[in-house]
Amino acid sequence: MSAPIVLTSDEIKSLSAKTLDGAQYYNGFGPCSSTDSYHLARSLSYSPYSKFRVGAVLIAQDGTYVEAGANVENASYGACICAEQTAIVKAVHILTYTRTTGHKNFKAIGVASSSGTYTSPCGICRQVLREFAPNIAIYMFAEDGTFVVEPLTAMLPRSFGPENLDVVRE
Ligand code: THU
Repeated sequence: MSAPIVLTSDEIKSLSAKTLDGAQYYNGFGPCSSTDSYHLARSLSYSPYSKFRVGAVLIAQDGTYVEAGANVENASYGACICAEQTAIVKAVHILTYTRTTGHKNFKAIGVASSSGTYTSPCGICRQVLREFAPNIAIYMFAEDGTFVVEPLTAMLPRSFGPENLDVVRE
């Protein structure tokens, strides 16, 4: 995979740390086992059915951290919510609530999972990201901190968005 790296190396280090090295942020995030506390976003995962823990961290245009999310499963399997969707919903909600501008302009998202290797956002997540961040860069981190990055435009070509409905997103 080849794609432009839109974050600086410092920003990538920070995103990697927040997506993977949760120990330093863990205390604020409630109970989880010591093995899980290793990962910030993944430590938030509710995944008793698949046991596939996924975490996602959103970064704003200015490189600052916006929000973390994890997958939230359901006994009715079709109702499972992915980590990327949780992060987007939390970010849009809190940034709208606090009337913070710029929530339409996420620059990057970090994704990591309990597989230990690169996890690619599913099709529905790509569409959810498309609504709020059509140009977002997707950083997929492996357990060892290595990553692959792809722009959403490459992962969801000829996508459908608000403009197709003649809607200008607020
Ligand atoms: N999952 C995510 O959280 N993000 C993805 O992009 C792929 C899949 C979750 C959904 C479900 O809880 C578990 O991984 C197994 O599919």
